Amino acid sequence: MALLSTTTTVATDAFRVRGGARLHGTIRLSGAKNSALKLMAAALLSEEPLQLREVPAIADVPVMAEVLRGLGVEVALDAERQTCRLQATDPGWHAPADAVSRIRASLSTLGPLVARVRRARLALPGGDRIGARSIDLHLRGLAAMGAEVRQDAHGVEVTAPDLHGAMITLDFPSVGATENLLMAATLADGTTVIDNAAREPEIQDLCRMLVAMGARIDGIGQPRLEIEGVDRLRGVTWETCPDRIEAGTYAMAAAATGGDVVIERVRPTDLTLPLLKLRASGVLVEEGSSSLRVTSDGLRAVDVVTLPYPGFPTDLQPQLMVLLTQARGTSRCTENVFESRFSFVDELARMGADVEVDGHHALIRGPSRLHGAVLAGLDVRAGAAGVMAGLIAEGETIVRDVHHIDRGYAHFVPRLQALGADIERIPDTGA
Ligand code: UD1
Repeated sequence: MALLSTTTTVATDAFRVRGGARLHGTIRLSGAKNSALKLMAAALLSEEPLQLREVPAIADVPVMAEVLRGLGVEVALDAERQTCRLQATDPGWHAPADAVSRIRASLSTLGPLVARVRRARLALPGGDRIGARSIDLHLRGLAAMGAEVRQDAHGVEVTAPDLHGAMITLDFPSVGATENLLMAATLADGTTVIDNAAREPEIQDLCRMLVAMGARIDGIGQPRLEIEGVDRLRGVTWETCPDRIEAGTYAMAAAATGGDVVIERVRPTDLTLPLLKLRASGVLVEEGSSSLRVTSDGLRAVDVVTLPYPGFPTDLQPQLMVLLTQARGTSRCTENVFESRFSFVDELARMGADVEVDGHHALIRGPSRLHGAVLAGLDVRAGAAGVMAGLIAEGETIVRDVHHIDRGYAHFVPRLQALGADIERIPDTGA
């Protein structure tokens, strides 16, 4: 399949970046990773075909396809057209452990399976190593809806012959738990209320697609979702929403290099707080209805706190830290979502950044002259931030383990090259 050939990486690839170029030019971005993977899982909710558009050419998509195929779903990916057709005529309930353990988003099959098949078995899902990432909120919510949940060292098994509506208050507005419970509720008996629900744009995208499929959902984009179960959902054609994290990453890369970049297919309203912080740090941002122009010439320190949407996204925190190494003054960054997100700081410090971490706070003193280094073992967002650091560093930076970056950024190297970056994909010889 062409999509596989454009995204699959041998584990030994690395990126070689030579710093100094100011990014300039125009790029058009992809559909959102964190939406597309959940929209794919939602195919399990209907026997009719689901036709997705703007499916990003990222490595997690074929893995999600594998998870779904293992559950008996027909999946046809088309890389050229960025489409994916899925049909779950008669899905199974036991997801293939191998594929499931490779991506965190495989957990999103749990809610739809419980709703449609009333039974699910899932190995413990994989994904980034950025903290504990428990699934207690998913399981407690399903139990409140009448499911019997059993968990052991290998995975989780859920049975729910009488899935019914429930009042659920989440301890924390978890993205994954909100999505799973929401999808389970679409086909449950009666009404489910999810209080303290997450409201990320990708969840709103999923909600809107479910409504188009015939689901009854009130409160989309609000912290209280009300879902009235229906008997069946129909197939639809749906376009994945733009990737705000990808857009934010390129915007910050443009600003950090003192460049001038136009980013197309973006919804500026999904990026309200990141754009506010960029402007506060002296970056010039011009907003179109579906585009951004980012220019910068001199940065100053800002304070940032990560929080669930509409707060500043944790998925843009490492990239912002790199940007702030170039800002005059002391910036304070507080991470509230994932406890291990600061593990990237050690790598940044090795490149010459002046960063001090105390618990979930980091102080960044700038501007610092960064120098090239070999960076390894970074997750998808820290990996992108490592590339950004390489773009502003003196000399050569090698970013290893780039299969993490391939999980979330479509055509990362060609897009950066098109903006004038000196970057190439090379085999990682380990030397
Ligand atoms: C999703 C995104 C990820 C993003 C994150 C937060 C996908 C595939 N990934 O991850 O890119 O960084 O949202 O915006 O969409 N938690 C619990 N118990 C639970 C569930 C979560 O304690 O049952 C905790 C987690 O450990 C974490 C926090 O809640 O500290 C946030 O997790 P959550 O919002 O669920 O993130 P994900 O859905 O895993």
